[in-house]
Amino acid sequence: MSTSPSFSAYKKSPYRSIKHNTYFSVYDHLFSKFRNKKIVFIEIGVLAGGSLFMWRNFFGSKARIIGVDMNPDAKKWEKYGFEIFIGSQSDENFWRNFREKIGKIDIVLDDGGHTYDQQIITTEMLLENIKDGGLLVIEDTHTSYMKGFGATKYSFINYTKNMIDKINRRFSKLSDDKNEKRIWSIEIFESIVAFCVNKKHSSLVSEPTDNGGKNDNSIDYRYEDNQAIKDLEYINKFLKYIPGFKFIIKQLKFFLLKVNSKSKIFFR
Ligand SMILES: C[S@@+](CC[C@H](N)C(=O)[O-])C[C@H]1O[C@@H](n2cnc3c(N)ncnc32)[C@H](O)[C@@H]1O
Repeated sequence: MSTSPSFSAYKKSPYRSIKHNTYFSVYDHLFSKFRNKKIVFIEIGVLAGGSLFMWRNFFGSKARIIGVDMNPDAKKWEKYGFEIFIGSQSDENFWRNFREKIGKIDIVLDDGGHTYDQQIITTEMLLENIKDGGLLVIEDTHTSYMKGFGATKYSFINYTKNMIDKINRRFSKLSDDKNEKRIWSIEIFESIVAFCVNKKHSSLVSEPTDNGGKNDNSIDYRYEDNQAIKDLEYINKFLKYIPGFKFIIKQLKFFLLKVNSKSKIFFR
């Protein structure tokens, strides 16, 4: 940790900040490319002000550092050159107003109240304003496995899984109006989820392409590792001309793949 730029920025902060020791390598990994740039950085959760100074140390003087907290005392940090907004991250109207004032954002880091509603509403309300190449990072996502932060069914991690499904719906055969068109990719760390925003890449519907090279008609060995399916293929060779038989074989294949799952032991 001694060589971590975010950790040394944290230690240099004159005011108290509380961060988990595993977060500094994640901050370095995600945020390094934004250092010394003219960026707009928002942190939800100001508390004792220490992380505002940490981010100023880390990103440099060109960065606009904006803190959001429900506690009106946080306004006192404005005299140090930070912008402070007072309101609740679970209040959609607060965010509408905020978006109008702030405009486009490079990074959002949510270290606020950590309930699922707070994390999800913040994400849904701010994604739209994040620039292509920007990040929305939610920390302390371990609360999704704990009591006291909301309904487990609607936890932030379940929301993230739903988001993965919506990203994969960009595949042409699955495509529908639920496709995710803002988040290009998701990086998941212990207790941190980072949404990488790129509306340009995310709006492309996935279609197969062909480079037009010479085809040597190679056989696809996809099912060669499954003896039961190989047996079915063998029977199919002789009986495929019987009407409806091909369809039955296909359904049997799908069934066998399902019930003979070798990988289910890895879902523990
Ligand atoms: C974990 S502390 C922030 C720590 C700070 N980022 C640091 O590194 O030291 C959480 C902060 O979130 C604020 N908070 C809690 N619920 C909130 C909400 N609904 N909206 C905005 N801020 C909230 C609390 O007032 C508290 O200051």
